[in-house]
Amino acid sequence: MRILLLGSGGREHALAWKMAQSSVLEELFIAPGNAGTKMHGKNVNISPSNFEEVKAFVVQNDINLVVVGPEDPLVNGIVDFFEADEELKSVPVVGPNKEAAQLEGSKDFAKKFMQRHNIPTAKYGTFTKDTLKEGYAFLEKMNPPFVLKADGLAAGKGVLILDTLKEAKRELKSMLADAKFGDASSRVVIEQFLDGVELSCFVITDGDAYKKLPEAKDYKRIGEGDVGLNTGGMGAVSPVPFANPTFLDKIENQIIIPTVKGLKADGIVYKGFIFFGIINVKNEPYVIEYNCRMGDPETEVVIPRLKSDILDLFEGVATNTLSERDVQFDERSAAAVMMVSGGYPEAYEKGKQIFGLNAVTDSIIFHAGTAADGPAVTTAGGRVLAVTSFGKDLATALKKTYGSLEKIEFDKANFRKDIGHDVL
Ligand code: AMP
Ligand code: GLY
Repeated sequence: MRILLLGSGGREHALAWKMAQSSVLEELFIAPGNAGTKMHGKNVNISPSNFEEVKAFVVQNDINLVVVGPEDPLVNGIVDFFEADEELKSVPVVGPNKEAAQLEGSKDFAKKFMQRHNIPTAKYGTFTKDTLKEGYAFLEKMNPPFVLKADGLAAGKGVLILDTLKEAKRELKSMLADAKFGDASSRVVIEQFLDGVELSCFVITDGDAYKKLPEAKDYKRIGEGDVGLNTGGMGAVSPVPFANPTFLDKIENQIIIPTVKGLKADGIVYKGFIFFGIINVKNEPYVIEYNCRMGDPETEVVIPRLKSDILDLFEGVATNTLSERDVQFDERSAAAVMMVSGGYPEAYEKGKQIFGLNAVTDSIIFHAGTAADGPAVTTAGGRVLAVTSFGKDLATALKKTYGSLEKIEFDKANFRKDIGHDVL
């Protein structure tokens, strides 16, 4: 297979690393990729949001499968663009079409979908600038804390959790009337606050069958003990100790199956990964959010645990034969810790040389924000590297990862020292 993978983060490096192990891979290109993806294929300097450039590359290079890492191209309709184009329509894309990607692209769409299919989720109301007063009245009937969500994509920043009614009203107005998140907050979902622990679950589907991938837990806050600003993710572990078989069965029966069947019943063809952001409230699972792609950094622990050939699964998605494919997982635990640039998630410097990468033998290093500078590797983003290790249990995996992190250095590097400690 000749494959084009879109994206440039740790998730894409993990996908590239896994695809490169497949016996059916002929050539892998990554657009735009990073210094890590380059070890497994050819990076090409194309933006995943420039569909015309993607098209030219696919046609010129006889690409026969496109894998989309991030949500933006999906929500913006890259799959529909392929389907509508004479030269591209025979090239399958792993990723949902624009309508299906609304599960992530519109919180209101996702909430309506869940309501329609009886999928457990927080109670909610959706408001616009014309119904701001109704929004205030809705807030007045709720108990704090108040959860406000911009309807559209807001680069992970569109969810606000507020302690007082006064703040909640002020923020609601700022989102709706003053376009705090631009167009993304022209509609706002107000949600009941759910108190519990979160985990991430994943499936891959061809629209009919689905295969579950291992669950994971990610760590979103910058500070140890889960304090401070939200980030793209500071680490992840898989499996998740509190997700026992009974709880995972509830997720499958109450959430995964109704989602896959619900999409089909609604006439929505979904091909690709579905990410279920789940919260455990007194041993009952609720959906916090859907994403239309794999999670990052969850991919950096989930994909290493996949023993089967990932291209066999992708072929199953492309040809609607996923039900015939076999998936096996590594029973061991995997732990990933992100090394980030000092200052992240606020302002940070780039272009710092990274030392010690070759000294790491016990872990897999997945590059996120890196660039190749001749033979040197330099930092090129806030989240720089994910260091993943396996262990017979989580404690062993974490110990290896933290051991490897000691060998890697760059100016002002930072990482959380407590990944996984809350679930050990
Ligand atoms: P989202 O972008 O929807 O994943 O929301 C970001 C984060 O906000 C989630 O990972 C949760 O930690 C939190 N969150 C979202 N919705 C709720 C809710 N209804 N109750 C409690 N926390 C929530
Ligand atoms: N780790 C959460 C996300 O990818 O959105």
